[in-house]
Amino acid sequence: MKIIKTIKSLRVFVSAARNAARTIGFVPTMGALHRGHISLIERSGKHGDFVVVSIFVNPTQFGPKEDLAKYPRPLRNDLRICEDHGVDVVFVPDAEEMYREEELTWVNVDKISEPLCGRFRPGHFRGVATVCAKLFNIVQPDVAYFGQKDAQQLAVIKRMAADLNFPLKVISCPTVRETDGLALSSRNRYLSPQQRKDATCIHRSLRTAHEMIEAGRTNPKTIVAKIRKIITAAKSLSSIDYISIVDADTLRDVSRITGKVLIAIAARFGSTRLIDNLTVDCRAR
Ligand code: PAF
Repeated sequence: MKIIKTIKSLRVFVSAARNAARTIGFVPTMGALHRGHISLIERSGKHGDFVVVSIFVNPTQFGPKEDLAKYPRPLRNDLRICEDHGVDVVFVPDAEEMYREEELTWVNVDKISEPLCGRFRPGHFRGVATVCAKLFNIVQPDVAYFGQKDAQQLAVIKRMAADLNFPLKVISCPTVRETDGLALSSRNRYLSPQQRKDATCIHRSLRTAHEMIEAGRTNPKTIVAKIRKIITAAKSLSSIDYISIVDADTLRDVSRITGKVLIAIAARFGSTRLIDNLTVDCRAR
């Protein structure tokens, strides 16, 4: 496995693989790798790709009061995970390599960046779309793999790739969960034992919502109220950013649950913000 820090060497190394007719698979990450990331790496490996993983804690997607400084950076362990899972190249640029000068060019994906997390993390998706556009230009992958846990991020990246004609396929991979349902996240390590226990209410509430929809409930307000009741019963909950039921493609609120909807939640336990979601396709019923 090759560990590369500069854009120039990365390009040379990846273009050699491309010239050898390999499909370039790309898994962008901010490190602190867990089984969710590993599932993306494995998916790329199974597809037969030349697997490139980037590890870069992207400063432009963090707000001024967010956890950029304390974001976990267990690089040695991350590299071991990559090596154990057959990654070909790990790209670990520093901030100066990625943002050499003051950034004057930004990628904004309108509309779908605005609701849900966009309301609570202004500028976040601009940072994500910009760094992904830069990484796509640097790595030039054929396929890029993202987790469904960050459903809005996935929608933003898919739209950005389509609108800007990036010649790549964006593949969405299922959320990986702990046995008690908690979605894996690099931020779960911030949780105290009580918060960790309580945080399972998010997935429990999503399952209940799913059952209600399966039972024929179509009023999003009723379902949101039920989710809220389940989550607010958790002792260590600090606040709920949102509980929303939106159209799975446009991310706009729906007034009736009929087509394919995304039920999305962001809630804080202590200062840790957790997100999770579930897609329900009523057309399949
Ligand atoms: O999901 C993440 O880890 C980040 O948002 C990403 C896609 C690597 C961009 O920094």
